[in-house]
Amino acid sequence: MPLKAAAHVEAMSAFALANLGGHDRPTLAQNESAFPPSPRAIAAGQDAIAHSHLYPDPDWTELREAIAQAYGVEPDLILCGAGSMDLISCTIAAFAGPGEEVLGTSYAYNFVASATARTGAVYVKAEEQDFAVSVDSILAAVTPATRIVFVCNPGNPTGTVIRNAELLRLRAALRGDVLLVIDQAYGEFDDQDPRPVFALVARSDTVVLRTLSKAYGLAGARVGWGLFAPSIAAEVRKIQNSNQVTTASLAMAVAAVQDQDYMRETVARTAQIRDRFAQDLRSAGYHVPQSRTNFVLIGFSSAEAAQTAGRTLREADIIVRGLGGYGLTDCLRATVGPQEIMDRALRILIDMRSA
Ligand SMILES: Cc1ncc(COP(=O)(O)O)c(C=O)c1O
Repeated sequence: MPLKAAAHVEAMSAFALANLGGHDRPTLAQNESAFPPSPRAIAAGQDAIAHSHLYPDPDWTELREAIAQAYGVEPDLILCGAGSMDLISCTIAAFAGPGEEVLGTSYAYNFVASATARTGAVYVKAEEQDFAVSVDSILAAVTPATRIVFVCNPGNPTGTVIRNAELLRLRAALRGDVLLVIDQAYGEFDDQDPRPVFALVARSDTVVLRTLSKAYGLAGARVGWGLFAPSIAAEVRKIQNSNQVTTASLAMAVAAVQDQDYMRETVARTAQIRDRFAQDLRSAGYHVPQSRTNFVLIGFSSAEAAQTAGRTLREADIIVRGLGGYGLTDCLRATVGPQEIMDRALRILIDMRSA
């Protein structure tokens, strides 16, 4: 008999990362920060490397304190992970099992589908309206088998936001035995007050996730965090590998979170490049929804036009993300990168439009 993986693993596909064609060139395909991390984070990481013979703090104590201070939340509610992907997959594995349903939205971050498939649960999508999450369509898609509702706000790959009041309405209308996960990986780019959403965590049926990969420019360090009520955290910690955030990453994360001015500056500079790029694309006739993230969704007149643009940009060494995996074949997603690359990308896209 040939050796076989578990049936639900054999049936699933591997999570598709962007096709970068190598790892040595700048890319606009992975929603990485256009700017490096705070110099204070780099220095702290360099110092911490010398202590790498010791396991890292398994309870992320210093980082939880720094986050609590910066975000006005209780340190006891915080769990950290090796990127928020770690927290996404552990939360789903803890709360959904074979045959149960995880409900996301049409364009919710694709990794959620992958994390669901690993558990043997079924991933279901509620339709978005005009590239934005629709609370009404989520509520209409809830079934007795729904265990988790997963909402990205701001969304990826759309970049759009819904108002916090809508998230509160969603929570109020969901059954108490449905866990609501609100993924705010791009939360620092959204100017809404995060406190009403953070406050939902006290109900013990809602989790809020954040990451240092975007606004803090620490994608390579792999640090995410989230707010979890104690009853939920206890289950998620059973699934998490211990010591998963390295000593150097923890030190970088603490210093980065303590440098809020640098983070805000990064967000402001990114938003400035993004909004100018988006506006110039709209003037050239592209459909570009207002983004509250570090990327933009670009809508083309057809799937062929999107494909041709992706190819032409790639020939110019600019890699953007195709969105066939989301069913958005007539769109591309471009991360906000350094101004010079955005200017080159813009020129190519405008020329294509006028050709
Ligand atoms: C919506 C969303 N959530 C979570 C993540 C995962 O980020 P990380 O694991 O780097 O924290 C991403 C990464 O692109 C994302 O777009």
